[in-house]
Amino acid sequence: MDFDARALAAAAVAARSNSYSPYSGFAVGAALLCANGAVYTGCNVENAAYSVTNCAERTALFAAVNAGQRTFVALAVAGGPAAQQPPLPACPPCGVCRQALYEFTGPGLPVVLAQTETDYTITTLGALLPQGFGPANLSE
Ligand code: THU
Repeated sequence: MDFDARALAAAAVAARSNSYSPYSGFAVGAALLCANGAVYTGCNVENAAYSVTNCAERTALFAAVNAGQRTFVALAVAGGPAAQQPPLPACPPCGVCRQALYEFTGPGLPVVLAQTETDYTITTLGALLPQGFGPANLSE
C-alpha cells in the first residue's frame, strides 16, 4: 500500500521529543501507520532498573494494538543522541522490536529510517529480520 514516507518520518522525529532516556542519553521516536490511516507514535521510556526500558517502536506498536489496530502499513524510526538535532544517524529497530512487529506484519512491512523529516531510507522488516518466526510457524 502506498504511504507518505515523509509524513511518517516527520511523525517519528516529532515523537522523539518525548523520549525519556536519562540513562542512555539516546532518544528515539517511532510512528506506525495503520491500515485505517491512523498513526500511533511512541518514544523510548527508560527506567532506573535498566531492563524495564521500552523501545520507541514497541511503545508505538502497543499503543496501536491497545487501540484495536492490528493491520499496519509502515513504520518510521528516528533515533540518536538526545542532544543531537536532525540530521540523525539511521536508527534501525532492535531485534526485540523486529520480532514484536513481525507478529502482526510478517516480512512485508516498510521501515523508514529517518535522519530528518525529509531525508530517510526505506527498508523492510523482512530485510531486517530474515526467516522470521511468526504465528504461522506454530501451526506448521
Ligand atoms: N532504542 C529504541 O527505542 N529503539 C531502537 O530500535 C534502538 C534502541 C532505545 C532503547 C534505549 O532506551 C536506548 O534506545 C539505547 O539503547
